[in-house]
Amino acid sequence: MPIALSPDQQEQMLSAARAAFKNAHAPYSNFKVGASILTESGKHYSGCNVENASYGLTICAERNAIFAAVAAEGTGMRIQAVAVATERDVPCAPCGACRQVIYEFGPDAIVLFRGHSGTEQMAITNLLPEGFRL
Ligand code: THU
Repeated sequence: MPIALSPDQQEQMLSAARAAFKNAHAPYSNFKVGASILTESGKHYSGCNVENASYGLTICAERNAIFAAVAAEGTGMRIQAVAVATERDVPCAPCGACRQVIYEFGPDAIVLFRGHSGTEQMAITNLLPEGFRL
């Protein structure tokens, strides 16, 4: 079962995500995204989107944050929560590929993002019903 974040935890995670988009490499879309991850061990990791002149090589902020968490904690890393923020402060829910990667490491994760009517706090299983498992 997902554990809802307190207002303080939400603000802490969203401000880490806002700090992360400052380093985004987004010269092609000009859409800078930052993500922060809270793992079940209580640690925080951040990531930003990194684009490439060969557009398809672009990696989203969420996956970069998750991969940093795996690199630091190993394959047992479990995601408790993910927060996403954009420089333009527009609605931005994680893309489909990132939802599947969140699900891999956080089947009970909570995802915070700006929706059309303010900050949303949703379970990954609501964002990604029937996530893929091997
Ligand atoms: N992007 C993210 O980093 N995360 C998302 O959830 C949606 C999209 C990035 C990818 C690309 O660099 C830019 O936003 C425009 O699609």
